[in-house]
Amino acid sequence: MADIKRTDAISGDVIHEYDGIEECDNELPNWWLGILYGTMIFAAGYWLAFQQLHVEPTAAEELAAYDAKQRAAQGTVNDEDVLLVAKQPASVVAGKQVFDATCSACHGEKGEGKIGPNLTDSVWLHGGGPVQIFSTIRDGVPAKGMPTWGPVLGAASVKNVAAYVLSIRNTNVPGKAPQGEPWKGL
Ligand code: HEC
Repeated sequence: MADIKRTDAISGDVIHEYDGIEECDNELPNWWLGILYGTMIFAAGYWLAFQQLHVEPTAAEELAAYDAKQRAAQGTVNDEDVLLVAKQPASVVAGKQVFDATCSACHGEKGEGKIGPNLTDSVWLHGGGPVQIFSTIRDGVPAKGMPTWGPVLGAASVKNVAAYVLSIRNTNVPGKAPQGEPWKGL
């Protein structure tokens, strides 16, 4: 059936009918349109301010920052925390200074290994990922002669020196023969 239009005798509304279904052609009320366009403008402004201009951290960023703070308070880290430090050249340099002063006696000046294992190969006794390296340094392996550095150096320095170890990992400086298992993780 064709589209038929009629004007309602009582309300004066223009009504169209199609296949027996009637619908008014009323204009949308301004208050309703105001809310619709208002939400659109708000969404665009929100996207611009939070996603593009970063005026304030987003809820997700705030949560991530809070989680990182909690981990820092507990002296734990995740891979991203350590990788973030590894991306800051000043921290890696600070880590190298700690290494030269504190670790090279046992791990060699270039990390090639002496009493302690070669840290420049891709084979690890306790895992070669960011968190594993951080944890081994923090907790040590006292039974095997690797001291517990967390209480001595503090979390920030342990992170820096872990970042430095990450930077020499897989550079294969000739030295002590590989010990452990090939590391295939991050
Ligand atoms: C007194 C000697 C000594 C000192 C000093 C020392 N280490 Fe070690 N380290 C060892 C020994 C020994 C091992 C091997 C432990 C084992 O056999 O489980 C080791 C293991 C490690 C490992 C794990 C290697 C793997 O294959 O999983 C890392 C990482 C490491 N040391 C980093 C450091 C850092 C960083 C420092 C300085 C803050 C440091 N060590 C200082 C003796 C030392």
